[in-house]
Formats: sequence, C-alpha cells, structure tokens
Amino acid sequence: MDEILINGGTPLNGEVTVSGAKNAALPVIAATLLVGDRFEFHNVPALKDILSIQDLLADMGADVEFHDNTFSIDTANLSHFEAPYEHVRKMRASILVLGPLLARMKRARVSLPGGCAIGARPIDQHLNGLARLGADIVLEHGYVEASAEKLTGAEIYFDLPTVTGTENLMMAAVLAEGQTVLRNVAREPEILALAEILNQMGADIAGAGSSVITINGVKALKPVTAAIIPDRIETGTFMVAAALTGGEIQIHKAAHSHLKELILKLEKTGAEIDCANQTIRVKGNAPVNSVDVKTMPYPGFPTDMQAQFMVLMAVAKGFSVISENVFENRFIHVSELRRLGADITISGSHAMVRGVPELSGAPVMATDLRASACLVLAGMVAKGTTRISRIYHLDRGYDALEKKFSRLGADIKRIPAQT
Ligand code: UD1
Repeated sequence: MDEILINGGTPLNGEVTVSGAKNAALPVIAATLLVGDRFEFHNVPALKDILSIQDLLADMGADVEFHDNTFSIDTANLSHFEAPYEHVRKMRASILVLGPLLARMKRARVSLPGGCAIGARPIDQHLNGLARLGADIVLEHGYVEASAEKLTGAEIYFDLPTVTGTENLMMAAVLAEGQTVLRNVAREPEILALAEILNQMGADIAGAGSSVITINGVKALKPVTAAIIPDRIETGTFMVAAALTGGEIQIHKAAHSHLKELILKLEKTGAEIDCANQTIRVKGNAPVNSVDVKTMPYPGFPTDMQAQFMVLMAVAKGFSVISENVFENRFIHVSELRRLGADITISGSHAMVRGVPELSGAPVMATDLRASACLVLAGMVAKGTTRISRIYHLDRGYDALEKKFSRLGADIKRIPAQT
C-alpha cells in the first residue's frame, strides 16, 4: 500500500483547480437508478468512492463508463437490486441506492452500514422516512430488506438533519403518489444540487437548500446530462493550506458561497481572502490567530473541515477550542497530530488546542478521509520529514491531492509502502 512522504516547511504558492464534489456526485449517480436509460455526468472527480459506486451499480447490471471525469451510465437492464456488504463496508454512501431502487423496482436489499471510525452513524432516519412513505422494512442477517407495492406521499419530520437521509428520501418520494413534505432536513449545497438534477429529470421538488422540502410525485422521469458542482471541502483544504504555510493560492472553480463560515473563521485567523466569480484567493499571514470553531450542519462550520482547521490552530498563537457537534468520535486524528508535536487535549466533544511554535515531522497513520487530509497539511508545515501510511483513506475522497500540492510547491510524493 502506498504512503505519502512530505518534507515540510515550504510556503505554497500558485494556482489550483478544484475537482467536482464527491458528495454531490454520489447521490446523483444513485439517482440514475430511478430511470432505465443512459445518463452522462461531467466534472466527476476521479477518486475511490466514485469507483466504488461504479462497481456497485455495474454489479446490479448497469452499463458504466468513467473516463476523463465523464461518467456515463445506462441503467436500463438492472438484474438485481442489492447493495451487498462487500460494497457498503467500503463506502457507507452505498446506502444512497435504497431510496431510488425502492421507488423504481419496488424492492431493495442493502447491507446495514454499521458504525465507522468517526461514530455509530445509524440510518434510522432513512428507514423511518421510507416506512412513512409506505415501505415495508425488515432488518435481517445484517441487511435492510425494503419493499413497497406503491409509495405514497407523506409528511416526514427528521429527528435531526441528515445529508444522505434527506437525499434518500427525496429520491424515494419523487415517484411516490401524491405530495411528500420533508421537515427538518439537511440544507447542504449537495442536496440542492441533487434536487436541481432531479427536477431536470422531470421531478417536482421545491425548497431544497432550506429545512423544508416539498415533493409532488410524478409518474416517470427522464435521463439527463449534467455537471457536478465543485467540491467545497477540497476547496477548504486548499484555503487552510495557504493560511497554514503562509503562502498565496488562487483556487479556481471554487464556490465561495458554499464556504461562508470557513471564510469568516479563516479571516479571523489573519488570512486575507478575496472571492471573485469562481476564484478564491487566500494569502496566509503570520502570526496565525487562535479562533474557536463549532461544527454544525450546513450552513454551520463543516465537520468535514474540522480536522484540517485543527492543524492551523495547532500552530496558531494562543489557545482555541474546537467543538465537534455532528459526529461523536471525530477526534481520532488528534493522537497523530500529537505525534507531530501538537498540544491538544480532548474533553468530550471539545478539543483544547494550545498553539506551538512548530510541528516536527514523524511517521503517522491516516485513520479516516478528512483525518488523512489533516495529516497531509500538518506534514507540509512540520519541520523535517513526515511519512503518512494508510493513505487509501485519502484516495477515497481526494482527486490527486498530492499532485495538486506538489504543483503548488510542496515537497510531497507518493511512495510504495516500506515494510
Ligand atoms: C454526509 C457526508 C459526510 C459528512 C456528513 C456530515 C456524504 C456522502 N457524506 O454523511 O461527508 O461528514 O454528511 O456533514 O454526503 N444520523 C442519525 N440517524 C440517521 C442518519 C444520521 O442519527 O438515520 C446522525 C449521524 O450519526 C450523525 C448526524 O446524524 O451524527 C449527521 O449525519 P449525516 O448527515 O447523515 O451524515 P452522512 O449523510 O452519512
């Protein structure tokens, strides 16, 4: 398995282009199951999770091609309607096939995802919602077996905003009979992007991007060609990299309106940020000021940026508190950051970060997707050499991150694992 080797200490400068958003591409690809026809999506990032959903849909009988960021899929001849454990354990977002399969095929069998490194991550909200639409849900042998002769619109109140839960319910309800009102839903830009593509397909969805979504069921949908929105988390990772290394990066194809909370926080740390059209320019300034953050569902500070922001605070002047309010166990990167010399103490859902003058390179291990990005950032600012193992986590969600950082001047390379 490959590793990443970084010699830290170089300010990053130059221009970089953001890839399409993984979390927008996955639900849109799952939505093709609603129609038996050919779709084409552009700006799809070349990363592991996309290959995982490609394999999953191909196993169901879909005809899939993925080249040069164009994803073509024909879902006319599906032979079975199952997401087996082997797929779901690699990628939890496989659960996104449940809603569309149920809507079109009247049945679906999807492995229960189980917990993961960052938390228990139940799917009760997905299942309760589908049951409210009339689905019969049985949990057996580690699988969700869902069936419904007919889905009927209903009013559904989510106990908490869930991103993939909202997406699953939206996809199930588009072909249901009558009106569905989803309340207390997640408001992430990826949900609005999915609703827009479903509407292009002929669905009748209003309110996506707010906390109430109304869906009037339609009889059938049609295929479309569409482009995937920019990845706001990759964008944010480059923004933090500029602030952290004291460099200046122009980030192209970036949607600054999706990053308002991060921009406010980064400005408080002392970074200069200009947004124009689809470009964000970030210039890092010393010293970095300490700033508290609390992760929240969108439009709050994204949990997917918490680990990266923590690296910045680890070398800031002063003391900050980072509170994780979305996932219960999302501080596993802290022990790795401590190995690089960070001074961080955890108390429940709060991390107390006392900035240190510098981090020092060391071998570290990636533990989840965003934790891996945080270690890459830490390695780029640490003195000496950092070797990151288990980078398959990074490859799940970032399209050639080390190449992009290398072009910005980082001394970073991928090497075969040393045994
Ligand atoms: C999505 C994103 C992930 C991001 C997360 C939060 C995708 C593919 N993944 O994950 O990158 O970190 O949103 O922004 O888009 N919960 C329940 N019951 C449920 C569903 C969720 O209790 O049925 C809880 C979860 O355990 C968690 C919180 O709700 O504490 C939010 O999770 P959710 O929004 O569902 O995350 P995902 O959709 O899995």
